[in-house]
Amino acid sequence: MVMDWQDRFSPYGRGAGGAETRAFLRLVGQPGLISFAGGIPDSELFPSALIAEAHRKILDDPARAKTALQYSVSEGYAPLREWIASHMRERGVACGIDNILITNGSQQGLYLTGRLLLGAGDGVLTERLTYLGLLHAFAGTEPQYAPLSDLRRAERVHAKLAYAMPDFANPTGQSLSLQDREALLAGAEAHDVVLLEDAAYTELRYRGAPLPSLLALDVSRRDIEESRVIYCGTFSKTIIPGLRAGWVVAAKPVIGQMGLLKQASDFHTSPLTQMVLTEVASRLPQSHIAMLCETYGARLGAMLAALAAHMPPGVSWTKPEGGMFIWVTLPESIDAAALLAEAIGAGVAFVPGAAFFPDNPKHNTLRLNFTACDLSAIQQGIARLGQLIAQRPNAV
Ligand SMILES: Cc1ncc(COP(=O)(O)O)c(C=O)c1O
Repeated sequence: MVMDWQDRFSPYGRGAGGAETRAFLRLVGQPGLISFAGGIPDSELFPSALIAEAHRKILDDPARAKTALQYSVSEGYAPLREWIASHMRERGVACGIDNILITNGSQQGLYLTGRLLLGAGDGVLTERLTYLGLLHAFAGTEPQYAPLSDLRRAERVHAKLAYAMPDFANPTGQSLSLQDREALLAGAEAHDVVLLEDAAYTELRYRGAPLPSLLALDVSRRDIEESRVIYCGTFSKTIIPGLRAGWVVAAKPVIGQMGLLKQASDFHTSPLTQMVLTEVASRLPQSHIAMLCETYGARLGAMLAALAAHMPPGVSWTKPEGGMFIWVTLPESIDAAALLAEAIGAGVAFVPGAAFFPDNPKHNTLRLNFTACDLSAIQQGIARLGQLIAQRPNAV
C-alpha cells in the first residue's frame, strides 16, 4: 500500500513552500530559451581560476587540508569571520568576529532568523512585494504578514519581525532612500520590532551613490550589542553562489543562539568552502566587482532601452540602480502566468509576479532578470515579449 505522506507531515513540514522556485530554476538551463526567469549571476564571470587555485593550495598543504576536511565549529572559520568583520567595518558597522555567523548562503541566515524568533502565527512586516525565498523560509510558522509601512503607524503594531531589502530588492529592483531607512529604524524602535536586513544585492550598484545599511545607521548611534538589526550578507552575488556561503551580523546573544540552531541543523558550513572563500575574498581584486557592475550595468541599460522600444502602451516597469531585476506591470486584463505559457513557446521565459505577494496577488505583473543573458539575447527576448503582449486581445 502506498504511504499517505501528506497526513504524516508535521504542520511545519506541510507548510514548506518553494515548488515555484524549483520550476523556474529548471527553465534556466533549457537550450534555446532566452531566460529572464532565474535570479542568477552570469557563470561566465565567475573567478573560476582563482577558486581552482585556492582549492589546490589548501588541499596540497597537509596541515591545512586536515582542517579543511575535518568537522569544525558552528560559528565558522575564524579567518573568514575576520575578513567579514573587516568588510563590515569598512561599511560603517563596528563589529568583531563574535558578531559574525557563517551560513550556507544568506538564505540560511533568513531561515535561522525565522526559526530563532518566530512562533506559529507571529506577525511579520514586509514590503507588499517581497523575496519569495523569505516567504518559503518562514512558511512553516505561517506568519501573519502585514505591510512594512505599518511601522509608521502611531497605534501599536503586533509584529515580532520586519524584513527589509534596502538595496535593489528582489523582485522590484527598488531601493530605500536614506529617509526611508531612518524611518524604518525609528518605527522598529517605536514598535519594539526586530529588523531583519537582507543585503544580498548591496554590492551590485551600477548608478548612484551607496547608502548606509540599516545596521550601519543603527550602529553609528549605539553599540552593536544594543542593536535590534539582524543583517544577512552573501558571497553569492559577488563571487559565486555554488559554494553556498553567506553570513549573519548581529549582537552576540543572537549569533550565539543562532549558532546552536545551525549546529542542530547542519553542524557547520563546509570548512573547505570557508577556507577557499577566505583566500578568494582576500585576493580578489576590487576590479572584479567593478567588472561585474560594468557588465551588469550595461545589461540593465540594454533591458531598459529594449523595454522602452518594444513594450506597447499600458505596460510600465521599475528603473533600478543595481541588483538583478526589473519589475513589470502589464495592463490589468493580462495574466502573466498565461503569457508565460505563450512566451515559452516563443523561446522567452520570465517569472510571473503573483508568487511574490504574501497575499492578494496581482496577476498582471512579472519579474525580469537582466544579469544572466548577454546584450543581444536581452534585445531579442524583450522584442519577442513585447510582440506577444501587443498581440494580446486586451492589450491597451
Ligand atoms: C533577496 C535575496 N536574499 C537572499 C537570497 C539568498 O541567496 P544566497 O543564499 O545565495 O546568499 C537571494 C537569492 O537569490 C535573494 O534574492
